[in-house]
Amino acid sequence: MQFIDLAAQQKRIRGAIEAGFKKILDHGQYILGPEIRELEEKLAAFVGVPFAVAVASGTDALLMPLMIEKIGPGDAIFTSTFTFIATAEVIELLGATAVFVDIDSKTYNIDPDKLEQAIQRVISEKKLTPRGIIPVDLFGQAADYDAIHLIAKKYNLFVLQDACQSFGASQKGKKAGALAKVAATSFFPAKPLGCYGDGGMIFTDDKKIYEQLLSIRVHGQGIDKYTNVRVGINGRMDSLQAAVLLAKMEIFAEEIELRQEVAGRYNQLLAGTVKIPKILKENISAWAQYSVLHPRRQAIIEKLRANGVPTAIYYPIPLHLQEAFTHLGYGKNDFPVAEKIAGEIFSLPMHPYLMPGEQERICATIKSSQ
Ligand SMILES: Cc1ncc(COP(=O)(O)O)c(C=O)c1O
Repeated sequence: MQFIDLAAQQKRIRGAIEAGFKKILDHGQYILGPEIRELEEKLAAFVGVPFAVAVASGTDALLMPLMIEKIGPGDAIFTSTFTFIATAEVIELLGATAVFVDIDSKTYNIDPDKLEQAIQRVISEKKLTPRGIIPVDLFGQAADYDAIHLIAKKYNLFVLQDACQSFGASQKGKKAGALAKVAATSFFPAKPLGCYGDGGMIFTDDKKIYEQLLSIRVHGQGIDKYTNVRVGINGRMDSLQAAVLLAKMEIFAEEIELRQEVAGRYNQLLAGTVKIPKILKENISAWAQYSVLHPRRQAIIEKLRANGVPTAIYYPIPLHLQEAFTHLGYGKNDFPVAEKIAGEIFSLPMHPYLMPGEQERICATIKSSQ
């Protein structure tokens, strides 16, 4: 059994991917070829925003908007402690300070009340200037954007949506990618929409930001690539990745539906065994992960492994306890909700092609291990 079965998906679209690759081999524009523009247009329309910029990774997709905001030393950016390292890494790379916030115990996303407390604390300490918030849509469920935008407005902060796990999700009918002025997603192969390498995309409704992103993506270029008007990066996506994504987009909406069915089946089969994910009624999750809680997870994980069922732990160590961030001075018990969940969480196989029989076997194994 696969944790994520990319081969089952490839079987459906292999012809389209090969045709896309052949076109690129023929025209030879390997970087920023015509497929990139086509993909940007298609995904911007899917998300419902005017502008999309294809980039080299989700990490670059988070970094580049922060560069536009001229984030640097002395600036505080607020984010969840329970996320992948990249969310906070980009803040620190620019010399700014990541200010971590605990999570909501139901959704595992940033807790808006604690966010406001953290902002007020930073203001009263007078050491850092609050500049922005990066909410993360963990495991595919959008964060509480209504509450976050109210806070952002009150304290004059920008919001950058980390939609790296939530492409395909929605909140109150709005797609992930359209829930903040700027949003970043990732096409790492294991993501709901994944390419066959690294890739990412930035979405925005702001033309000026869009134009700046195009420049930053190619070393801060001006009218051409040998005129540099700002410091940028090599943040380009290659055409082959765009061809994979274009082929996958043909079946993506259907796959998001299939993910709902797989998650629904897990919810039923697991009732009364482990704590199942809670998706709020205004949200449709992209189900990047199906993550459950159990205080004695190790015994369950081992039983599953013995029965050929792979699992993963996202995330065993919250960011405030990571060695990379010791300089920030956090310690144990600073964020009790995240720490408790990090100690109990594990993820089950999740992909659109998981068969009901496989799910029954997984859930029966979990039951028998208790
Ligand atoms: C929440 C989150 N942020 C950022 C990233 C970074 O994306 P990438 O691996 O494409 O750089 C990822 C995924 O890996 C992620 O899950």
